[in-house]
Amino acid sequence: MSLTNPVITIDGPAASGKSSVSREIAKRLSWNWVSTGAFYRGLAYVSMQEGTPSQDEKALAMLAKSDCWSVEMTSEKTAVIYQMKDVTAEINSEKTGSIASVISQYPEVRAALLQAQRDCSLQPPGLIAEGRDCGTVVFPEAILKVYLTARSEDRAKRRAKEQGLELESTVEEQKLRDERDASRASAPMQVPENALVIDTSSLGFEEVVARIESELKGRI
Ligand code: DC
Repeated sequence: MSLTNPVITIDGPAASGKSSVSREIAKRLSWNWVSTGAFYRGLAYVSMQEGTPSQDEKALAMLAKSDCWSVEMTSEKTAVIYQMKDVTAEINSEKTGSIASVISQYPEVRAALLQAQRDCSLQPPGLIAEGRDCGTVVFPEAILKVYLTARSEDRAKRRAKEQGLELESTVEEQKLRDERDASRASAPMQVPENALVIDTSSLGFEEVVARIESELKGRI
């Protein structure tokens, strides 16, 4: 499958800096930006509201296909709309992230959300897509695949500070989530072939962005 518009993928574990870095690249290029995690977080949120059990793959896949919710790209956020209401602010919690991680293990759920994620690239001039499997499954034809990582302590510190959480429980919660995301059978989080891997532990935000920009030279 070839893409109508160019795509850059940025994958990596929780709190590795994917969102801020990918948003900044999108801003500098004036391209669109999407967080594919918002699809899983949105479904997690809606399933909680509707009382759908997180073990029920079939019901979750049905819900994923329903029109009671949708995901919309904007330059600032990937908005989740539930029953005509923007609930984006409600999907950011660690709890929603954990449930998203649980339900994203199901192949039927992933299959139900895949096309809508791919369709985000239909809007010109280009797309920066961030997530876990953007470079491996959603956009294997991306012009550049980036994998951001960082020491788990640093990532947990970042997330705990952002969300006002206790460090110790955040380290544990994140470890569980990373293990689940990386070990699932369907589209596990992994470094895409030929990816630019950046460990952000001891790099500043500007340095990370500059490395990606330098890798982009000659590709766009
Ligand atoms: O990036 P995030 O924290 O918003 O993602 C929440 C969860 O969604 C993540 O733990 C696993 C799942 N996810 C996924 O399986 N595939 C993606 N491309 C993005 C997110």
